[in-house]
Amino acid sequence: MACLFRRAIAEQVSRVVGLPSETVAKSIQAVPVHRKHESPDFQLFVNSLLDDGHLDAASSLPEKAQRLASKLKCDSVISEIATARGSVTFKVNRELLIKTVLNKITQDGTQYGLNTDLLCGLHKGKTIVEFSSPNIAKKFHVGHLRSTIIGNFIANLKEAVGNEVLRINYLGDWGLQFGLLGTGFSLYGSEEDLKANPLEHLFNVYVKINEAAEQDENLKQSAMEFLGRLEGGEKQALSLWTHFRDLSIQEYAKIYKRLGVHFNEYSGESFYKEKSQHVLDLLKNKGVLKQTENGNVVVDLSEGNDLSSYKTVVRSDGTSLYITRDVAAAIDRMEKYNFDEMIYVTDKSQQTHFQQLFRILEILGKKHADRCHHVPFGRVQGMQTRKGDVIFLEDVLDEARARMLQNMSDTSTSKDLEDPTGTAEKIGIAALIVQDFKGPLMSDYNFDWHRALQSFGDTGVFLQYTHARLHSLQSLQKLEKNDIDMSCLQEPSVVFTLQHLLRYDEVILQCLEDYQPRYLVNYLMGLGHLINVAHRALPVKGSTEEVAQARLLFFKNVQMVLANAMKLFGITPVTNM
Ligand code: ARG
Repeated sequence: MACLFRRAIAEQVSRVVGLPSETVAKSIQAVPVHRKHESPDFQLFVNSLLDDGHLDAASSLPEKAQRLASKLKCDSVISEIATARGSVTFKVNRELLIKTVLNKITQDGTQYGLNTDLLCGLHKGKTIVEFSSPNIAKKFHVGHLRSTIIGNFIANLKEAVGNEVLRINYLGDWGLQFGLLGTGFSLYGSEEDLKANPLEHLFNVYVKINEAAEQDENLKQSAMEFLGRLEGGEKQALSLWTHFRDLSIQEYAKIYKRLGVHFNEYSGESFYKEKSQHVLDLLKNKGVLKQTENGNVVVDLSEGNDLSSYKTVVRSDGTSLYITRDVAAAIDRMEKYNFDEMIYVTDKSQQTHFQQLFRILEILGKKHADRCHHVPFGRVQGMQTRKGDVIFLEDVLDEARARMLQNMSDTSTSKDLEDPTGTAEKIGIAALIVQDFKGPLMSDYNFDWHRALQSFGDTGVFLQYTHARLHSLQSLQKLEKNDIDMSCLQEPSVVFTLQHLLRYDEVILQCLEDYQPRYLVNYLMGLGHLINVAHRALPVKGSTEEVAQARLLFFKNVQMVLANAMKLFGITPVTNM
Protein backbone atom coordinates (compact mmCIF):
# COMPACT_ATOMS: atom_id res chain seq x y z
CA MET A 1 0.00 0.00 0.00
CA ALA A 2 1.77 3.02 1.22
CA CYS A 3 5.04 1.18 0.55
CA LEU A 4 4.64 1.39 -3.19
CA PHE A 5 4.09 5.13 -2.99
CA ARG A 6 6.77 5.82 -0.42
CA ARG A 7 9.25 3.83 -2.45
CA ALA A 8 8.42 5.65 -5.68
CA ILE A 9 8.83 9.04 -4.01
CA ALA A 10 11.98 8.00 -2.16
CA GLU A 11 13.63 6.75 -5.33
CA GLN A 12 13.24 10.07 -7.08
CA VAL A 13 14.35 12.07 -4.07
CA SER A 14 17.27 9.78 -3.45
CA ARG A 15 18.58 10.39 -6.98
CA VAL A 16 18.52 14.13 -6.37
CA VAL A 17 19.96 14.27 -2.87
CA GLY A 18 22.29 11.31 -3.10
CA LEU A 19 21.07 9.51 0.00
CA PRO A 20 20.01 5.85 -0.06
CA SER A 21 16.34 5.60 -0.87
CA GLU A 22 15.62 3.58 2.31
CA THR A 23 16.90 6.51 4.33
CA VAL A 24 14.76 8.95 2.42
CA ALA A 25 11.72 6.69 2.76
CA LYS A 26 11.94 6.93 6.53
CA SER A 27 11.36 10.68 6.31
CA ILE A 28 8.26 10.40 4.17
CA GLN A 29 4.99 10.65 6.04
CA ALA A 30 1.40 10.26 5.02
CA VAL A 31 -0.40 13.58 5.45
CA PRO A 32 -3.24 13.63 8.00
CA VAL A 33 -6.50 14.06 6.11
CA HIS A 34 -8.24 17.38 6.13
CA ARG A 35 -11.95 16.69 6.05
CA LYS A 36 -12.97 19.80 4.12
CA HIS A 37 -10.53 19.92 1.24
CA GLU A 38 -8.29 17.46 -0.43
CA SER A 39 -4.76 17.39 0.94
CA PRO A 40 -1.67 15.89 -0.67
CA ASP A 41 -0.97 12.26 0.28
CA PHE A 42 2.63 12.39 1.46
CA GLN A 43 5.11 14.91 2.76
CA LEU A 44 8.83 15.01 3.13
CA PHE A 45 10.32 17.46 5.61
CA VAL A 46 13.56 18.74 4.15
CA ASN A 47 15.17 19.36 7.52
CA SER A 48 15.38 15.59 7.89
CA LEU A 49 17.74 15.54 4.86
CA LEU A 50 19.80 18.57 5.78
CA ASP A 51 23.24 17.14 5.94
CA ASP A 52 23.07 16.58 2.22
CA GLY A 53 25.22 18.78 0.02
CA HIS A 54 22.64 19.35 -2.68
CA LEU A 55 20.32 21.29 -0.46
CA ASP A 56 22.81 23.26 1.58
CA ALA A 57 23.19 26.13 -0.80
CA ALA A 58 19.73 27.49 -0.20
CA SER A 59 19.29 29.48 2.95
CA SER A 60 15.87 28.88 4.44
CA LEU A 61 13.90 25.65 4.77
CA PRO A 62 11.16 26.79 2.37
CA GLU A 63 13.82 27.62 -0.19
CA LYS A 64 15.42 24.24 0.26
CA ALA A 65 12.04 22.59 -0.15
CA GLN A 66 11.44 24.54 -3.32
CA ARG A 67 14.81 23.73 -4.71
CA LEU A 68 14.27 20.03 -4.08
CA ALA A 69 10.76 20.13 -5.54
CA SER A 70 12.01 21.81 -8.71
CA LYS A 71 14.29 18.86 -9.35
CA LEU A 72 11.55 16.22 -9.03
CA LYS A 73 9.18 15.14 -11.75
CA CYS A 74 5.69 13.73 -11.86
CA ASP A 75 5.51 10.20 -13.19
CA SER A 76 3.07 7.32 -13.38
CA VAL A 77 2.79 7.20 -9.59
CA ILE A 78 3.29 10.82 -8.52
CA SER A 79 0.74 13.16 -10.01
CA GLU A 80 1.51 16.42 -8.22
CA ILE A 81 4.51 17.87 -6.43
CA ALA A 82 4.26 21.04 -4.36
CA THR A 83 5.82 22.63 -1.31
CA ALA A 84 4.41 23.69 2.02
CA ARG A 85 6.69 25.59 4.38
CA GLY A 86 9.65 23.27 5.02
CA SER A 87 8.29 20.27 3.20
CA VAL A 88 7.75 18.89 -0.25
CA THR A 89 4.32 17.38 -0.72
CA PHE A 90 3.20 14.66 -3.11
CA LYS A 91 -0.09 13.59 -4.50
CA VAL A 92 -0.26 10.16 -6.03
CA ASN A 93 -2.31 9.15 -9.02
CA ARG A 94 -5.90 8.88 -7.80
CA GLU A 95 -6.86 5.75 -9.65
CA LEU A 96 -3.70 4.06 -8.47
CA LEU A 97 -4.31 5.15 -4.89
CA ILE A 98 -7.79 3.66 -4.83
CA LYS A 99 -6.82 0.44 -6.52
CA THR A 100 -3.63 -0.11 -4.55
CA VAL A 101 -5.11 0.46 -1.11
CA LEU A 102 -8.26 -1.57 -1.73
CA ASN A 103 -6.39 -4.47 -3.31
CA LYS A 104 -3.88 -4.48 -0.51
CA ILE A 105 -6.62 -4.78 2.11
CA THR A 106 -8.31 -7.57 0.16
CA GLN A 107 -5.00 -9.36 -0.08
CA ASP A 108 -3.70 -8.85 3.45
CA GLY A 109 -6.93 -9.02 5.44
CA THR A 110 -6.15 -9.01 9.13
CA GLN A 111 -2.50 -8.27 8.36
CA TYR A 112 -3.24 -5.03 6.55
CA GLY A 113 -0.79 -2.29 7.47
CA LEU A 114 1.29 -4.55 9.70
CA ASN A 115 3.79 -5.84 7.15
CA THR A 116 4.85 -2.56 5.59
CA ASP A 117 8.45 -1.38 5.11
CA LEU A 118 8.00 0.85 8.14
CA LEU A 119 7.07 -2.00 10.50
CA CYS A 120 8.99 -4.87 8.93
CA GLY A 121 12.29 -3.28 9.87
CA LEU A 122 11.48 -3.42 13.58
CA HIS A 123 13.34 -5.84 15.76
CA LYS A 124 11.17 -8.89 16.41
CA GLY A 125 11.77 -10.89 19.50
CA LYS A 126 10.31 -12.31 22.64
CA THR A 127 8.23 -9.91 24.68
CA ILE A 128 6.87 -10.56 28.13
CA VAL A 129 3.93 -8.43 29.16
CA GLU A 130 3.07 -8.70 32.81
CA PHE A 131 -0.30 -7.21 33.56
CA SER A 132 -3.54 -7.28 35.58
CA SER A 133 -1.91 -8.93 38.62
CA PRO A 134 -4.68 -8.51 41.21
CA ASN A 135 -4.12 -9.28 44.87
CA ILE A 136 -6.16 -12.16 46.16
CA ALA A 137 -8.44 -11.01 48.97
CA LYS A 138 -7.69 -7.36 48.43
CA LYS A 139 -9.78 -5.11 46.29
CA PHE A 140 -9.72 -5.74 42.54
CA HIS A 141 -9.79 -2.02 42.02
CA VAL A 142 -10.17 0.07 38.90
CA GLY A 143 -6.40 0.16 38.68
CA HIS A 144 -6.43 -3.55 37.96
CA LEU A 145 -9.02 -3.04 35.26
CA ARG A 146 -6.75 -0.43 33.69
CA SER A 147 -3.74 -2.71 33.96
CA THR A 148 -5.77 -5.52 32.38
CA ILE A 149 -6.93 -3.61 29.33
CA ILE A 150 -3.73 -1.64 28.79
CA GLY A 151 -1.57 -4.75 29.16
CA ASN A 152 -3.81 -6.64 26.78
CA PHE A 153 -3.49 -3.85 24.22
CA ILE A 154 0.29 -3.80 24.47
CA ALA A 155 0.45 -7.58 24.16
CA ASN A 156 -1.87 -7.55 21.13
CA LEU A 157 0.10 -4.78 19.50
CA LYS A 158 3.45 -6.48 20.01
CA GLU A 159 2.05 -9.73 18.68
CA ALA A 160 0.50 -8.03 15.67
CA VAL A 161 3.87 -6.79 14.46
CA GLY A 162 5.48 -10.18 14.75
CA ASN A 163 6.83 -10.57 18.26
CA GLU A 164 6.44 -13.70 20.29
CA VAL A 165 4.42 -12.55 23.28
CA LEU A 166 4.10 -14.13 26.69
CA ARG A 167 1.30 -12.81 28.92
CA ILE A 168 1.94 -13.18 32.61
CA ASN A 169 -0.43 -12.53 35.48
CA TYR A 170 1.66 -11.91 38.57
CA LEU A 171 -0.95 -12.60 41.20
CA GLY A 172 -0.60 -11.00 44.61
CA ASP A 173 -0.93 -14.38 46.28
CA TRP A 174 1.55 -14.11 49.12
CA GLY A 175 2.39 -11.85 51.97
CA LEU A 176 0.82 -10.61 55.16
CA GLN A 177 -2.68 -10.47 53.71
CA PHE A 178 -2.71 -14.27 53.75
CA GLY A 179 -1.75 -14.31 57.40
CA LEU A 180 -4.70 -12.06 58.08
CA LEU A 181 -6.96 -14.07 55.83
CA GLY A 182 -6.03 -17.35 57.53
CA THR A 183 -6.87 -15.93 60.93
CA GLY A 184 -9.90 -14.05 59.62
CA PHE A 185 -11.39 -17.07 57.91
CA SER A 186 -11.40 -19.11 61.11
CA LEU A 187 -13.38 -16.30 62.74
CA TYR A 188 -15.71 -14.96 60.04
CA GLY A 189 -15.41 -17.35 57.13
CA SER A 190 -18.10 -19.53 55.66
CA GLU A 191 -17.39 -22.28 53.17
CA GLU A 192 -20.82 -21.75 51.67
CA ASP A 193 -20.34 -18.02 51.05
CA LEU A 194 -16.89 -18.73 49.77
CA LYS A 195 -18.22 -21.12 47.14
CA ALA A 196 -21.05 -18.78 46.19
CA ASN A 197 -18.92 -15.71 45.64
CA PRO A 198 -15.25 -16.24 46.44
CA LEU A 199 -13.88 -12.79 45.64
CA GLU A 200 -16.53 -10.95 47.57
CA HIS A 201 -16.42 -13.27 50.54
CA LEU A 202 -12.64 -13.24 50.85
CA PHE A 203 -12.67 -9.50 50.55
CA ASN A 204 -15.31 -9.16 53.27
CA VAL A 205 -13.35 -11.43 55.59
CA TYR A 206 -10.21 -9.46 54.83
CA VAL A 207 -11.84 -6.13 55.62
CA LYS A 208 -13.26 -7.46 58.88
CA ILE A 209 -10.04 -9.00 60.14
CA ASN A 210 -8.07 -5.93 59.15
CA GLU A 211 -10.33 -3.74 61.23
CA ALA A 212 -10.31 -6.14 64.13
CA ALA A 213 -6.54 -6.57 64.08
CA GLU A 214 -6.11 -2.80 64.26
CA GLN A 215 -7.70 -2.96 67.71
CA ASP A 216 -6.34 -6.26 68.91
CA GLU A 217 -2.65 -7.12 69.23
CA ASN A 218 -3.49 -10.81 69.70
CA LEU A 219 -5.12 -10.99 66.30
CA LYS A 220 -2.17 -9.29 64.70
CA GLN A 221 0.07 -11.80 66.39
CA SER A 222 -2.03 -14.68 65.18
CA ALA A 223 -1.93 -13.35 61.62
CA MET A 224 1.87 -13.18 61.76
CA GLU A 225 1.88 -16.72 63.07
CA PHE A 226 -0.31 -17.91 60.25
CA LEU A 227 2.05 -16.28 57.76
CA GLY A 228 4.92 -17.99 59.55
CA ARG A 229 3.14 -21.35 59.16
CA LEU A 230 2.67 -20.63 55.48
CA GLU A 231 6.24 -19.60 54.93
CA GLY A 232 7.32 -22.67 56.84
CA GLY A 233 5.31 -24.79 54.44
CA GLU A 234 2.86 -26.21 56.97
CA LYS A 235 0.39 -28.49 55.23
CA GLN A 236 -2.89 -27.34 56.74
CA ALA A 237 -2.17 -23.66 56.30
CA LEU A 238 -1.01 -24.26 52.74
CA SER A 239 -4.10 -26.21 51.83
CA LEU A 240 -6.36 -23.36 52.97
CA TRP A 241 -4.21 -20.94 50.97
CA THR A 242 -4.42 -23.17 47.87
CA HIS A 243 -8.17 -23.33 48.28
CA PHE A 244 -8.50 -19.52 48.37
CA ARG A 245 -6.14 -19.14 45.49
CA ASP A 246 -7.80 -21.71 43.23
CA LEU A 247 -11.27 -20.33 43.78
CA SER A 248 -10.07 -16.80 43.15
CA ILE A 249 -8.32 -17.71 39.93
CA GLN A 250 -11.47 -19.42 38.69
CA GLU A 251 -13.37 -16.20 39.30
CA TYR A 252 -10.74 -14.04 37.64
CA ALA A 253 -10.77 -16.34 34.64
CA LYS A 254 -14.49 -15.70 34.17
CA ILE A 255 -13.91 -11.96 34.13
CA TYR A 256 -10.94 -12.23 31.81
CA LYS A 257 -13.06 -14.29 29.47
CA ARG A 258 -15.69 -11.56 29.34
CA LEU A 259 -12.93 -9.11 28.52
CA GLY A 260 -11.42 -11.40 25.90
CA VAL A 261 -8.14 -11.48 27.82
CA HIS A 262 -6.00 -14.55 28.34
CA PHE A 263 -2.72 -15.33 30.09
CA ASN A 264 -0.03 -17.85 29.28
CA GLU A 265 1.03 -17.99 32.88
CA TYR A 266 -0.37 -17.27 36.32
CA SER A 267 2.78 -17.15 38.36
CA GLY A 268 2.18 -15.12 41.43
CA GLU A 269 4.38 -13.85 44.18
CA SER A 270 4.05 -17.14 46.07
CA PHE A 271 6.06 -18.85 43.36
CA TYR A 272 9.07 -16.71 44.20
CA LYS A 273 9.05 -16.91 47.97
CA GLU A 274 11.77 -19.54 48.10
CA LYS A 275 13.74 -18.03 45.27
CA SER A 276 14.03 -14.86 47.34
CA GLN A 277 16.74 -16.50 49.40
CA HIS A 278 18.82 -16.93 46.28
CA VAL A 279 18.41 -13.22 45.51
CA LEU A 280 19.69 -12.38 48.97
CA ASP A 281 22.72 -14.61 48.42
CA LEU A 282 23.48 -12.87 45.15
CA LEU A 283 23.18 -9.45 46.75
CA LYS A 284 25.37 -10.56 49.61
CA ASN A 285 28.06 -11.77 47.24
CA LYS A 286 28.00 -8.39 45.54
CA GLY A 287 28.57 -6.84 48.92
CA VAL A 288 25.63 -4.46 48.67
CA LEU A 289 23.57 -5.71 51.62
CA LYS A 290 23.55 -3.67 54.80
CA GLN A 291 21.73 -3.94 58.06
CA THR A 292 19.93 -0.87 59.37
CA GLU A 293 19.49 0.04 63.03
CA ASN A 294 15.99 -1.43 63.20
CA GLY A 295 17.23 -4.79 61.99
CA ASN A 296 16.03 -4.63 58.38
CA VAL A 297 18.34 -5.81 55.65
CA VAL A 298 18.63 -3.28 52.81
CA VAL A 299 20.35 -2.84 49.46
CA ASP A 300 22.31 0.34 49.27
CA LEU A 301 21.23 2.11 46.10
CA SER A 302 23.19 5.29 46.65
CA GLU A 303 26.04 6.43 44.44
CA GLY A 304 28.36 7.13 47.34
CA ASN A 305 27.65 3.96 49.33
CA ASP A 306 26.27 6.10 52.13
CA LEU A 307 22.75 4.68 52.37
CA SER A 308 21.29 8.00 51.20
CA SER A 309 19.02 5.81 49.09
CA TYR A 310 18.22 2.20 49.84
CA LYS A 311 15.60 -0.50 49.59
CA THR A 312 14.64 -2.96 52.30
CA VAL A 313 14.82 -6.55 51.09
CA VAL A 314 14.28 -8.52 54.29
CA ARG A 315 12.18 -7.51 57.29
CA SER A 316 13.73 -7.74 60.72
CA ASP A 317 11.57 -10.82 61.41
CA GLY A 318 13.05 -12.56 58.40
CA THR A 319 9.95 -12.51 56.17
CA SER A 320 10.42 -11.65 52.51
CA LEU A 321 9.15 -8.56 50.77
CA TYR A 322 7.40 -7.50 47.58
CA ILE A 323 10.62 -6.16 46.06
CA THR A 324 12.62 -9.27 46.88
CA ARG A 325 10.04 -11.48 45.21
CA ASP A 326 10.04 -9.15 42.20
CA VAL A 327 13.81 -9.43 41.81
CA ALA A 328 13.50 -13.20 42.03
CA ALA A 329 10.70 -13.23 39.46
CA ALA A 330 12.64 -11.05 37.01
CA ILE A 331 15.77 -13.21 37.25
CA ASP A 332 13.72 -16.36 36.89
CA ARG A 333 12.06 -15.03 33.74
CA MET A 334 15.42 -14.01 32.28
CA GLU A 335 16.72 -17.51 32.79
CA LYS A 336 13.58 -19.25 31.65
CA TYR A 337 12.66 -17.12 28.67
CA ASN A 338 15.70 -15.03 27.73
CA PHE A 339 13.31 -12.28 26.73
CA ASP A 340 14.14 -9.32 24.52
CA GLU A 341 11.81 -7.07 26.40
CA MET A 342 9.68 -7.23 29.51
CA ILE A 343 6.90 -4.74 30.15
CA TYR A 344 5.22 -4.26 33.52
CA VAL A 345 1.88 -2.49 33.58
CA THR A 346 0.79 -0.95 36.88
CA ASP A 347 -0.47 2.32 38.23
CA LYS A 348 1.97 5.14 38.69
CA SER A 349 2.21 4.77 42.46
CA GLN A 350 4.64 1.92 41.75
CA GLN A 351 7.04 3.93 39.60
CA THR A 352 9.70 4.13 42.30
CA HIS A 353 9.30 0.44 43.04
CA PHE A 354 10.13 -0.43 39.44
CA GLN A 355 13.00 2.02 39.23
CA GLN A 356 14.48 0.35 42.28
CA LEU A 357 13.80 -3.09 40.89
CA PHE A 358 15.60 -2.31 37.64
CA ARG A 359 18.45 -0.70 39.55
CA ILE A 360 18.90 -3.80 41.71
CA LEU A 361 18.97 -5.99 38.60
CA GLU A 362 21.65 -3.72 37.21
CA ILE A 363 23.67 -3.94 40.42
CA LEU A 364 23.43 -7.70 40.10
CA GLY A 365 24.97 -7.33 36.66
CA LYS A 366 21.95 -8.72 34.82
CA LYS A 367 22.17 -7.80 31.16
CA HIS A 368 18.40 -7.97 30.88
CA ALA A 369 18.00 -5.04 33.27
CA ASP A 370 17.73 -2.50 30.49
CA ARG A 371 15.25 -4.66 28.63
CA CYS A 372 12.71 -4.10 31.40
CA HIS A 373 10.20 -1.29 31.19
CA HIS A 374 7.44 -0.04 33.37
CA VAL A 375 4.32 1.41 31.74
CA PRO A 376 2.62 3.47 34.43
CA PHE A 377 -0.90 4.85 34.35
CA GLY A 378 -2.98 7.33 36.32
CA ARG A 379 -5.98 6.94 38.57
CA VAL A 380 -9.61 6.76 37.59
CA GLN A 381 -12.01 8.70 39.71
CA GLY A 382 -15.75 8.39 39.99
CA MET A 383 -16.30 4.92 38.62
CA GLN A 384 -19.28 3.97 40.72
CA THR A 385 -21.90 1.37 40.01
CA ARG A 386 -25.47 1.14 41.25
CA LYS A 387 -24.12 -1.11 43.95
CA GLY A 388 -22.02 1.77 45.24
CA ASP A 389 -18.30 2.37 45.16
CA VAL A 390 -16.77 -0.11 42.83
CA ILE A 391 -15.11 -3.01 44.43
CA PHE A 392 -15.28 -5.81 41.95
CA LEU A 393 -14.51 -5.69 38.33
CA GLU A 394 -17.47 -7.92 37.66
CA ASP A 395 -19.76 -5.15 38.90
CA VAL A 396 -18.23 -2.70 36.47
CA LEU A 397 -18.79 -5.05 33.56
CA ASP A 398 -22.34 -5.79 34.67
CA GLU A 399 -23.06 -2.10 35.01
CA ALA A 400 -21.70 -1.29 31.56
CA ARG A 401 -23.79 -4.07 30.08
CA ALA A 402 -26.97 -3.11 31.94
CA ARG A 403 -26.68 0.55 31.02
CA MET A 404 -26.02 -0.27 27.40
CA LEU A 405 -28.95 -2.66 27.28
CA GLN A 406 -31.13 0.10 28.68
CA ASN A 407 -29.89 2.58 26.06
CA MET A 408 -30.54 0.06 23.34
CA SER A 409 -34.07 -0.63 24.47
CA ASP A 410 -34.72 3.14 24.76
CA THR A 411 -33.86 3.52 21.13
CA SER A 412 -35.57 0.21 20.40
CA THR A 413 -32.60 -0.99 18.37
CA SER A 414 -32.31 -4.21 20.30
CA LYS A 415 -35.60 -5.83 19.44
CA ASP A 416 -34.41 -7.76 16.42
CA LEU A 417 -31.17 -8.85 17.94
CA GLU A 418 -30.47 -12.49 18.49
CA ASP A 419 -28.46 -11.91 21.64
CA PRO A 420 -29.10 -8.40 23.02
CA THR A 421 -27.30 -9.07 26.30
CA GLY A 422 -24.17 -10.35 24.60
CA THR A 423 -24.22 -7.43 22.18
CA ALA A 424 -24.72 -4.94 25.01
CA GLU A 425 -21.77 -6.48 26.79
CA LYS A 426 -19.47 -6.09 23.79
CA ILE A 427 -20.52 -2.50 23.27
CA GLY A 428 -20.28 -1.71 26.97
CA ILE A 429 -16.74 -3.07 27.14
CA ALA A 430 -15.80 -1.09 24.03
CA ALA A 431 -17.11 2.01 25.80
CA LEU A 432 -14.99 1.34 28.89
CA ILE A 433 -11.87 0.68 26.85
CA VAL A 434 -12.14 3.72 24.60
CA GLN A 435 -12.91 6.04 27.50
CA ASP A 436 -9.81 4.72 29.19
CA PHE A 437 -7.52 4.88 26.16
CA LYS A 438 -8.42 8.37 24.99
CA GLY A 439 -5.91 10.37 26.98
CA PRO A 440 -2.27 9.98 27.98
CA LEU A 441 -2.08 6.90 30.20
CA MET A 442 -0.31 8.83 32.95
CA SER A 443 -3.21 11.25 33.40
CA ASP A 444 -5.81 10.70 36.06
CA TYR A 445 -9.31 11.01 34.70
CA ASN A 446 -12.89 11.20 35.84
CA PHE A 447 -14.99 8.34 34.70
CA ASP A 448 -18.43 9.30 33.47
CA TRP A 449 -20.89 6.57 32.49
CA HIS A 450 -23.05 8.93 30.50
CA ARG A 451 -20.18 10.26 28.43
CA ALA A 452 -18.63 6.86 27.89
CA LEU A 453 -21.87 5.36 26.61
CA GLN A 454 -22.90 8.07 24.18
CA SER A 455 -23.39 6.86 20.66
CA PHE A 456 -21.97 10.06 19.18
CA GLY A 457 -18.68 11.64 19.92
CA ASP A 458 -15.44 9.85 20.53
CA THR A 459 -16.72 6.71 22.20
CA GLY A 460 -16.46 2.99 21.87
CA VAL A 461 -20.18 2.93 21.16
CA PHE A 462 -19.58 5.14 18.12
CA LEU A 463 -16.95 2.72 16.83
CA GLN A 464 -19.26 -0.25 17.36
CA TYR A 465 -22.11 1.56 15.58
CA THR A 466 -19.86 2.38 12.68
CA HIS A 467 -18.67 -1.18 12.42
CA ALA A 468 -22.20 -2.63 12.61
CA ARG A 469 -23.47 -0.17 10.02
CA LEU A 470 -20.73 -1.14 7.57
CA HIS A 471 -21.40 -4.78 8.21
CA SER A 472 -25.10 -4.44 7.52
CA LEU A 473 -24.31 -3.23 3.99
CA GLN A 474 -23.07 -6.69 3.22
CA SER A 475 -26.56 -8.08 3.58
CA LEU A 476 -27.82 -5.86 0.75
CA GLN A 477 -26.01 -7.60 -1.99
CA LYS A 478 -23.41 -10.26 -2.47
CA LEU A 479 -19.96 -9.00 -3.27
CA GLU A 480 -18.58 -10.78 -6.34
CA LYS A 481 -14.90 -10.36 -5.77
CA ASN A 482 -13.60 -10.49 -9.31
CA ASP A 483 -13.52 -7.75 -11.87
CA ILE A 484 -14.63 -4.86 -9.77
CA ASP A 485 -14.31 -1.61 -11.61
CA MET A 486 -12.71 0.71 -9.11
CA SER A 487 -12.66 3.63 -11.44
CA CYS A 488 -16.19 4.42 -10.32
CA LEU A 489 -14.87 5.24 -6.86
CA GLN A 490 -13.46 8.70 -7.47
CA GLU A 491 -15.64 10.63 -4.98
CA PRO A 492 -13.83 12.79 -2.42
CA SER A 493 -15.25 10.79 0.48
CA VAL A 494 -13.59 7.66 -0.87
CA VAL A 495 -10.31 9.42 -1.51
CA PHE A 496 -10.27 10.98 1.96
CA THR A 497 -10.92 7.66 3.62
CA LEU A 498 -8.25 5.82 1.64
CA GLN A 499 -5.75 8.60 2.26
CA HIS A 500 -6.44 8.12 5.94
CA LEU A 501 -5.69 4.41 5.58
CA LEU A 502 -2.24 5.25 4.18
CA ARG A 503 -1.30 6.39 7.65
CA TYR A 504 -2.32 3.24 9.54
CA ASP A 505 1.19 1.80 9.89
CA GLU A 506 2.58 5.13 11.05
CA VAL A 507 0.01 5.23 13.84
CA ILE A 508 0.81 1.65 14.86
CA LEU A 509 4.48 2.60 15.01
CA GLN A 510 3.67 5.60 17.15
CA CYS A 511 1.80 3.36 19.62
CA LEU A 512 4.74 0.96 19.72
CA GLU A 513 7.14 3.76 20.56
CA ASP A 514 5.61 4.65 23.90
CA TYR A 515 2.78 2.15 24.36
CA GLN A 516 0.13 4.85 24.34
CA PRO A 517 -3.13 3.73 22.77
CA ARG A 518 -4.46 7.25 22.31
CA TYR A 519 -2.90 7.70 18.86
CA LEU A 520 -4.88 4.75 17.58
CA VAL A 521 -8.05 5.94 19.32
CA ASN A 522 -7.74 9.30 17.61
CA TYR A 523 -7.03 7.67 14.32
CA LEU A 524 -10.04 5.37 14.53
CA MET A 525 -12.34 8.22 15.45
CA GLY A 526 -11.10 9.98 12.33
CA LEU A 527 -11.71 6.86 10.27
CA GLY A 528 -15.19 6.50 11.77
CA HIS A 529 -16.14 10.05 10.82
CA LEU A 530 -14.77 9.73 7.30
CA ILE A 531 -16.49 6.46 6.58
CA ASN A 532 -19.79 7.70 7.98
CA VAL A 533 -19.65 10.64 5.60
CA ALA A 534 -18.91 8.24 2.76
CA HIS A 535 -21.73 5.98 3.86
CA ARG A 536 -24.23 8.82 3.61
CA ALA A 537 -22.85 10.05 0.29
CA LEU A 538 -22.53 6.74 -1.50
CA PRO A 539 -25.64 4.57 -1.40
CA VAL A 540 -25.28 0.97 -2.43
CA LYS A 541 -28.98 0.36 -2.84
CA GLY A 542 -30.34 1.87 -6.04
CA SER A 543 -26.93 2.21 -7.70
CA THR A 544 -26.04 0.39 -10.89
CA GLU A 545 -24.62 -3.06 -10.39
CA GLU A 546 -21.12 -1.87 -11.21
CA VAL A 547 -21.15 1.06 -8.81
CA ALA A 548 -22.85 -0.96 -6.08
CA GLN A 549 -20.15 -3.63 -6.28
CA ALA A 550 -17.31 -1.12 -6.13
CA ARG A 551 -18.87 0.64 -3.15
CA LEU A 552 -19.50 -2.63 -1.37
CA LEU A 553 -15.86 -3.55 -1.76
CA PHE A 554 -14.80 -0.17 -0.42
CA PHE A 555 -17.06 -0.39 2.64
CA LYS A 556 -16.17 -3.97 3.32
CA ASN A 557 -12.46 -3.27 3.25
CA VAL A 558 -12.73 -0.27 5.52
CA GLN A 559 -14.81 -2.37 7.90
CA MET A 560 -11.97 -4.90 7.90
CA VAL A 561 -9.35 -2.34 8.92
CA LEU A 562 -11.67 -0.90 11.55
CA ALA A 563 -12.29 -4.37 12.98
CA ASN A 564 -8.56 -5.20 13.00
CA ALA A 565 -7.77 -2.09 14.99
CA MET A 566 -10.68 -2.55 17.40
CA LYS A 567 -9.43 -6.05 18.13
CA LEU A 568 -6.00 -4.67 18.99
CA PHE A 569 -7.76 -2.71 21.72
CA GLY A 570 -9.39 -5.88 22.98
CA ILE A 571 -12.79 -4.89 21.60
CA THR A 572 -14.97 -7.48 19.89
CA PRO A 573 -16.63 -5.71 16.97
CA VAL A 574 -20.39 -6.29 16.79
CA THR A 575 -22.17 -6.91 13.53
CA ASN A 576 -25.62 -5.85 14.68
CA MET A 577 -26.86 -3.45 17.27
N1 ARG B 1 -0.22 -7.06 42.69
C1 ARG B 1 0.29 -5.74 42.54
C2 ARG B 1 -0.76 -4.70 42.91
O1 ARG B 1 -1.92 -4.95 42.83
C3 ARG B 1 0.73 -5.46 41.14
C4 ARG B 1 1.87 -6.31 40.67
C5 ARG B 1 2.72 -5.62 39.68
N2 ARG B 1 3.78 -6.41 39.20
C6 ARG B 1 4.95 -6.64 39.81
N3 ARG B 1 5.82 -7.41 39.21
N4 ARG B 1 5.25 -6.08 40.95
O2 ARG B 1 -0.41 -3.61 43.29
